[in-house]
Amino acid sequence: MDGYSYSGRKPHFREELTLVERGTPMGEYLRRFWHPVGLIADATATPRRVRILSEDLVLFRDGAGRPGLVHARCMHRGADLFYGRGEEQGIRCCYHGWMFDVEGRCVDMPMEPDNGCKVRDRIRQPWYPVEERYGLIFAYMGPPDKKPLLPRYELLENLQDGEVIVADDSNLGSGGYGIAPCNWLQHFDNVVDPFHVPVLHQSFSGIQFVAEMGVKPDVQFEAFEQGVRSEQVRDLGDGSKLRRVTEALLPNVRVVPSPRLAMGPTEGIGFVVPIDSTHYLVYNVARAAPGTDLGAIRSKPGGKDWREMTEDERQRFPGDWEAQTSQGEIAFHSEEHLASSDAGIAMLRRLLARQVKLVAEGSDPVGWTQTPGEEWIRSRSGNFTISAEA
Ligand code: FES
Ligand SMILES: [Fe+2]
Repeated sequence: MDGYSYSGRKPHFREELTLVERGTPMGEYLRRFWHPVGLIADATATPRRVRILSEDLVLFRDGAGRPGLVHARCMHRGADLFYGRGEEQGIRCCYHGWMFDVEGRCVDMPMEPDNGCKVRDRIRQPWYPVEERYGLIFAYMGPPDKKPLLPRYELLENLQDGEVIVADDSNLGSGGYGIAPCNWLQHFDNVVDPFHVPVLHQSFSGIQFVAEMGVKPDVQFEAFEQGVRSEQVRDLGDGSKLRRVTEALLPNVRVVPSPRLAMGPTEGIGFVVPIDSTHYLVYNVARAAPGTDLGAIRSKPGGKDWREMTEDERQRFPGDWEAQTSQGEIAFHSEEHLASSDAGIAMLRRLLARQVKLVAEGSDPVGWTQTPGEEWIRSRSGNFTISAEA
């Protein structure tokens, strides 16, 4: 990769934190957890392409309503199962009609003598287990004996009257839609970077959220077992203070309270999912009123929807997309100059590096469990008011 260098050395990035291919340290660490691969409605009889952790897969639903996730290339002679179709018992390849159930078993070989019954049991289309929860389809792509329980997030379980769980795959934050063309860690770093808010989202681009967010916060970072927390206190000048708590939870979960300052505990979480080493997607899930479109709750820098902005307008009203993708496909860590305001980022990378090493050495990472009852994840994130007397 070409690039500038402050140091005179070849610029480089921390591969163990960024690369997600199978066999890389981070790729193997992430493969110890469940990751969203689609919204529940994405799995239908019409196959849908899924790319995650640099693997090309196909998502479908069989006639019994079971979702399935298989490698895109048919094990017979490699036709793309995207061109197949979901049928009663599985997904049928368009080329010679082999059909695979949701666990990759070949259940039909219509052009073979006896329907292939002599050979069918000896082969298996590569497949991954999936589970549906919180409006999402989660997949596990790691070693079968290391499949953990699918986590339960306390903040998504205690629904108030009239609330439902809504999920969205289109919203990256302030501006930016769908798939971002840069490494996932650039987004995860940003979760523990509260100091960018008064600059990028206010003094630079006008008020992208609400005026109170433009106040420079006093920030305390805290590394704990499961992640990094930042506690931001803003003096609102009327005797009250805003206490805002944001968390990055291992391996890739963001718990960020409303930047428009809905008060109280945070109502949703986001999964920062690497598509490959140079692209990522965020799946957001939240408690909300029925029909709420999470994708529609986003900033309008300069009064415009991000998709309608020209490059010239993005230059005048940059948001998270512009800041993070412009750091490069994979930001060169060798060229950074981390300052005291980056303490949370240093903590997060240290935690991730330790977990990656644990997995490489054969241990189980933090947040991984096969013990029922231990799959609960709790958060202290939210927007809270500290009154004058407090
Ligand atoms: S390539 Fe799929 S059935 Fe032949
Ligand atoms: Fe931001």
